Formats: sequence, structure tokens, C-alpha cells
Amino acid sequence: MTTDYFGEDVAARYDDPDDEMSQAAAIDPVVDFIAELAGGGAALELGIGTGRIALPLSQRGVRVHGIDLSEAMVARLQAKPGAEEIGVTIGDFASTTVEGSFSVSFLVFNTIMNLTTQDAQVACFRNAAAHLEPGGCFVIEVMLPDLQRLPAGETIRPFTVTPTRFGFDEYDIVRQGLISHHYAVTDGALRINAIPFRYVWPAELDLMAQLAGMTLRERWSNWKREPFTAGSTKHVSVWEKTGA
Ligand SMILES: C[S@@+](CC[C@H](N)C(=O)[O-])C[C@H]1O[C@@H](n2cnc3c(N)ncnc32)[C@H](O)[C@@H]1O
Repeated sequence: MTTDYFGEDVAARYDDPDDEMSQAAAIDPVVDFIAELAGGGAALELGIGTGRIALPLSQRGVRVHGIDLSEAMVARLQAKPGAEEIGVTIGDFASTTVEGSFSVSFLVFNTIMNLTTQDAQVACFRNAAAHLEPGGCFVIEVMLPDLQRLPAGETIRPFTVTPTRFGFDEYDIVRQGLISHHYAVTDGALRINAIPFRYVWPAELDLMAQLAGMTLRERWSNWKREPFTAGSTKHVSVWEKTGA
């Protein structure tokens, strides 16, 4: 059974208005990108969460359906104005199917890495492709593992260090695993959270796409279509459904 790491405690804090991921500057380029790919068609978000992207996308006139494992995250989405326009199915996005076909399916904010085995990530590509119309696109936004900055023999890379927040990734380079550890002080109380991920290289994602009958159409370093280079820390990739 797939473990839900987005329970009530995480969901209650997810939509932090001070977090940069909640700001229009982070959200608008994603919505622009997905709305353009959707054309007049529908969009399927894998890991829809609290609707950070799905709601503004729906308000842009795109029909949106989402899949998510977390009842707590989806309850947050469904309490927001406009959520009645969005269909949601509770389940694992590697295997859950929904009615209809879509112009675009998308999986943002490193969420492919929540699937912690290669088999599950391959299944996710197959599931995304099965929901696409011919010529439809699957979009992923995911970080690149920080291995170039990990000294030989070491396993820890900090990603946030402030007086009230500390976060670090713990790498397991044998199994492409990483655990993201988060420590935060809020109202004088310490909260600790750790989530396991499987990091995955662009070339491996391309092979997963190929196995699912899709080919790479675009790869950028961000949603504004800036070039993907050796210095990129993440990528936004688009695969098109081409095969049977
Ligand atoms: C980092 S949040 C992203 C939420 C939203 N897409 C956003 O950009 O804000 C990841 C979401 O994916 C969901 N999730 C993680 N693994 C999943 C799985 N295997 N199947 C379905 N949902 C999953 C979590 O419950 C959570 O809501």
C-alpha cells in the first residue's frame, strides 16, 4: 500500500501564504504553460494536492481533474471557492484511472519523486499516457539531484538554513533514494518531518516516457522556457503521446 505523507498536519500548513511557492510569481508561469498546452482540451493533474495550480488553471477556463492519495490535502482544495468545477479522484496516481481523455497531464513540484521505486515511476508514465489523447502531452517539473555538490562518501546536502527552519536531503546514491528532513520552529514549537523520495535523471525519465509510448518534445530549466543547461537545478519536461 502507498504511504500517505501528506496527512492533516502537513495539509494544514501546506498553503502558507509566505512560502514562495504560494506566490503568483511561482504559480502564474505554471498555469500559463499548462493552459497553453491544454489548448481547448482538459487537463489531468497527478498529485493535485490543495489545488495550488489546479484552481487558477480551472479559473483560466481549462477543465481540470485531479488524482491524489491524501484526503487531507483534497479536503483543503474542496473548501476553496471554485473547487466545485474540479473533479477529484482519491487514489495512487501510478495506478488510479479516471473517466475521459485529456490533452495534458501534469505532475509538478518534484512529485514524481514521491514514487520511491523505478517500477512505480514507470507505472506512473504508463498511467499518464493512458489518459492522454493522441498528441497529448505529459509534463513533469522535477529537481536535479545535487550530487555534483555532494563530496565523495558524504550523504547530506542542506537546502534550507534559517534561524527558524532547517532542511537537508539525505542521499542514498546506491538506490537513488533521498530523504528530505524538515525542522521548523512555529510559535515556539519544533515540528519535524521526513519524506522519502526517489530521485531520477532526465535520461531515465525519457526512457520511461518511451516505454509508455511518448517522446520528448520540450525540456526547459523552468516554466518560462529558459534553456536547460549543465547549471540547471531542475527541469520542466514535456513528452508527447506518439505511439500505441
Ligand atoms: C508536493 S505536493 C504537490 C501538490 C500540488 N501539485 C502543488 O503543486 O502544490 C504532492 C502531492 O502529491 C500527492 N501524492 C504523493 N504521492 C502520491 C501518489 N503516489 N498518488 C497520489 N497522490 C500522491 C500528495 O498527497 C500531495 O498532495
